[in-house]
Amino acid sequence: MKRERLAILGASGSIGASALDVVSRHPQRFEVVALTAQRRWKELLEACRRFEPRWAVLGEADAADALRAALRREGIPTEVRQGATALAEVARHPEVDTVIAAIVGAAGLPPAWAAACAGKKILLANKEALVLAGGLFMEAVARHGARLLPLDSEHNAIFQALPPDYDRSRPDDFGVRRILLTASGGPFRERPQETFPAITPQEACAHPNWSMGRKISVDSATMMNKGLEVIEAYWLFGLPPSRIDVLIHPQSVVHSLVEYRDGSLLAQLGTPDMRTPIAHALGFPQRLEAGVRPLDLVRVGRLEFEPPDLERFPCLRLAYEALREGGSAPAALNAANEVAVAAFLQGRLRFDRIPALIEATLAQLPKRELDTIEAVLEFDRLARDRAESLLAGEGA
Ligand SMILES: NC(=O)c1ccc[n+]([C@@H]2O[C@H](COP(=O)([O-])OP(=O)(O)OC[C@H]3O[C@@H](n4cnc5c(N)ncnc54)[C@H](OP(=O)(O)O)[C@@H]3O)[C@@H](O)[C@H]2O)c1
Repeated sequence: MKRERLAILGASGSIGASALDVVSRHPQRFEVVALTAQRRWKELLEACRRFEPRWAVLGEADAADALRAALRREGIPTEVRQGATALAEVARHPEVDTVIAAIVGAAGLPPAWAAACAGKKILLANKEALVLAGGLFMEAVARHGARLLPLDSEHNAIFQALPPDYDRSRPDDFGVRRILLTASGGPFRERPQETFPAITPQEACAHPNWSMGRKISVDSATMMNKGLEVIEAYWLFGLPPSRIDVLIHPQSVVHSLVEYRDGSLLAQLGTPDMRTPIAHALGFPQRLEAGVRPLDLVRVGRLEFEPPDLERFPCLRLAYEALREGGSAPAALNAANEVAVAAFLQGRLRFDRIPALIEATLAQLPKRELDTIEAVLEFDRLARDRAESLLAGEGA
């Protein structure tokens, strides 16, 4: 059997590491042909030793030079390339069958877009790509015969709970009443709100159930992650915002649910480990060994659910509002959030000021229809500039 040729974008990150772990369990089935990162070249070197891909791409020139020298010293034949153009080129290369899109933030959009326009199978973790350009992206997937499989655990769970022939343009024909995205509630679900100004990046990045990159960890702590996921679900599954609900579920065992017309609720459950959705999407429609500890429901004991508190976590409300408004609003939300989270991680913005900065940025930006990917990227830059200038007036 011909092996499936993979490009793993964001291979040095948390999803990248989980993907490499699953892939390493199936050497007969997958061949890693490209690995990418922005600057962490040592992680990429380690992965090149294990998988000897044809290409390694780094965003930063110094990191690319360092990796090139190290590979030469060790006699590993991987070709090192550098920059955003090279990243898009490997994503669309004819010798790549499947692209694992696991870059964090808007930076992941151009290579994911290149993969969609080249008709690739795309395993999407980079939810920001859909938040920024969901309509254009879904259109490109359809027009170029690409295949999109969700890696986000909630969306992968919904995908598993929907019928195999589900068509996002006709949810009612499949009896789908609504979808319920579960959320752990993050590390501050029960923390007194008056102490939010004192929250440190270290506290925000200590998620109770998942081990993730720093940006998504902060997004989980503010619940913006769930807001971005609501927008992602809107594009993936074609339901209006009023039929996409969020449910706090602190155990993170039920990964999301679909409610049907007849009253049935179908859920996917499992140990919180990203290797499950990654293995599901990699093997689909077959099931692959993922190295994940089976879920022991007796040990879990209790499954709890509660509604989200939008006053405590205004980012979730802002995301729903941006989705309802449409046009450029979700792109503005995403850009302002990326600026706010980076500033918080650098000690330039207090945790409790993150939603305020996002809301102020949204209020100041013009509303536009974004009809091309270039217009999306240009609007993203504009929104970042606006958020940065508002941030300059903040003081941490
Ligand atoms: N972690 C999870 O459990 C999880 C679950 C569901 C969805 N996701 C989504 O998956 C994506 C990745 O999350 P993560 O937690 O794996 O993040 P992460 O650990 O921070 O890894 C991010 C990856 O993106 C690369 N990168 C960063 N900036 C880049 C740029 N400007 N250009 C090109 N590459 C860049 C990083 O390279 P360097 O390492 O060199 O900086 C790294 O390889 C996010 O969209 C997140 O929302 C993550």
